[in-house]
Amino acid sequence: MCGIIGAVAERDVVPILLEGLKRLEYRGYDSAGLAVIDQALQGLKRERIIGKVHKLEEALKQHSLYSPIGIAHTRWATHGKPSCENAHPHFAKDKVAVVHNGIIENYQALRTQLETKGHVFESETDTEVIPHLIHEFWLETDCLETAFVRSLQALEGSYSVAMLSPLEPGKLFAARRGSPLVIGVGVGEHFVASDVAALVSVTQQVIFLEEGDVAYIQRDSLVIHNSRGEVVEREIHISHVQADAVERGQYRHYMQKEIFEQPHALRDTLEGRIHDGHVLEAAFGASAHKLFEEIYAVQIIACGTSYHAGLVASHWIETLAKLPCSVEVASEFRYRQPLPNPNALVVAISQSGETADTLAALHEAKRLGFGPSLAICNVPESSLVRAADMSLMTRAGIEIGVASTKAFTTQLLALLLLTVVLGKRNGTITEIEQSIVKSLESLPDAVDKLLNRVHMPIKNLAERFADKYHSLFLGRGIHYPVAKEGALKLKEISYIHAEAYPAGELKHGPLALVDADMPVIAVAPNDALQEKLKSNLEEVHARGGQLFIFADHRAIMQPSDYIKVIELGEVDELLSPILYTIPLQLLAYHVALIKGTDVDQPRNLAKSVTVE
Ligand code: M6R
Repeated sequence: MCGIIGAVAERDVVPILLEGLKRLEYRGYDSAGLAVIDQALQGLKRERIIGKVHKLEEALKQHSLYSPIGIAHTRWATHGKPSCENAHPHFAKDKVAVVHNGIIENYQALRTQLETKGHVFESETDTEVIPHLIHEFWLETDCLETAFVRSLQALEGSYSVAMLSPLEPGKLFAARRGSPLVIGVGVGEHFVASDVAALVSVTQQVIFLEEGDVAYIQRDSLVIHNSRGEVVEREIHISHVQADAVERGQYRHYMQKEIFEQPHALRDTLEGRIHDGHVLEAAFGASAHKLFEEIYAVQIIACGTSYHAGLVASHWIETLAKLPCSVEVASEFRYRQPLPNPNALVVAISQSGETADTLAALHEAKRLGFGPSLAICNVPESSLVRAADMSLMTRAGIEIGVASTKAFTTQLLALLLLTVVLGKRNGTITEIEQSIVKSLESLPDAVDKLLNRVHMPIKNLAERFADKYHSLFLGRGIHYPVAKEGALKLKEISYIHAEAYPAGELKHGPLALVDADMPVIAVAPNDALQEKLKSNLEEVHARGGQLFIFADHRAIMQPSDYIKVIELGEVDELLSPILYTIPLQLLAYHVALIKGTDVDQPRNLAKSVTVE
């Protein structure tokens, strides 16, 4: 999704803006731009390109821009194709420059009104109405601050905005509603960005703007107004995002780095949450003890990979904690008007904590009268964490690859912790808690061992997928969502069409697709459904399908020319969904590598989906 960075300092901010844009690249984008106030002309200057930030850097070398104040943007097209004209910053009459994340829903009506007043538009974007509105209100009021606020009031939809104007050349204007924005506090300088990651090279001190906040940012002063227009002090936080956390190090891709970081991420996620054979309820926050009291059901909401984590967790919550658990894609939940259950714990799962649908679904659950809410999230200061009653952070560290890997496995671990706490409350887990905790403690090493064991075999196997156009993933029970996650990974980064089915569904339709060109990937652990799954796989084999079976040390079928078995070794049954995910991540990675796709920033996708 789009990214914003702005800076006001004594030094030249152009290198800071470019560095910030590079650190935002992981979010996914198709074009980029930068605007400054030229000190000699006291006027706006900008550069915009289609493509990657390094192209913007090249372009800027041709027209050396220098300025102590500027704004920049990476755009992920929503309204209007990727083009230089549609790239931000957008100008109005060389008096106002704006960068924007989000969607302005009433832009068409605003644009028509402004056009009748003589405003000429150069782009197809919704964003361009913002600078024109500001300019129009400035003409009416002769006050830029008033014009900024009145323009924001006219906008419907979600936004985070940064604005720059030669009318007040030392000031950045910023505002958020529905889309995150953070202020960076430096020594005699200030920054604004849509993501803390953009600021790591300039400051660790950050202020998270709240819904409806408007900020006036100068080199040596910062004034924030809340949604009622009152001046407010917002707390300065110390960001723990490290500069090297957004670097690839020895790895070729962020995704590869993140796959191999999983043992560490899982260890961190576990730390301080278990003690002496028990899972600590306090890990869910001080209010957890009270809020968990009246919980008799669980409602999970999430999108994409996080939704798959929810699907796995529903098996644990129902079988171990013995509580009814529903899982729903957030974009459906938010509009379905579900019947509220005041005793249902609402669990919103999200890596970023900024996914628009998940946030909206959480607000909707609250509005409808569901029970208390818990965010399982990887970004402590995110909107989701702030909106939920409780939170449990996955400590995966910043995840940059668009394809979620370590966020998923740490979510599963967090959900296992939740299962234990709820199960203890419900009296269903007391006797097995110690053995569950023992399994949890063994998880980081088990993942480490598994990575070493399967990495090379999967690298070799990947060759057999590179010329394929379609694939089927099969699983049963708790491993069906694991198959779904494997399919999502493969389609996301290798662009091979991949569909997951509960294996028992095969003969109800998808079996018609099976032939020698259709790889069928089976998640086949040695569990209670093993024999059932085996029959399903025989059906594929009998129709000439190529089987790739991921199994533990007791594989359910013998390898042959048409059956490739990838052995994971001995697998703890409780941890099985986490462990079986690892080889599927590696498979997707290596197939994408062979196909030469953009592994970390696959086409059309964004890391954090902050629009509907
Ligand atoms: O940040 P979130 O976990 O809320 O993101 C949800 C999905 O957009 C995300 O999981 C997406 O499906 C991933 N790219 C999958 O790899």
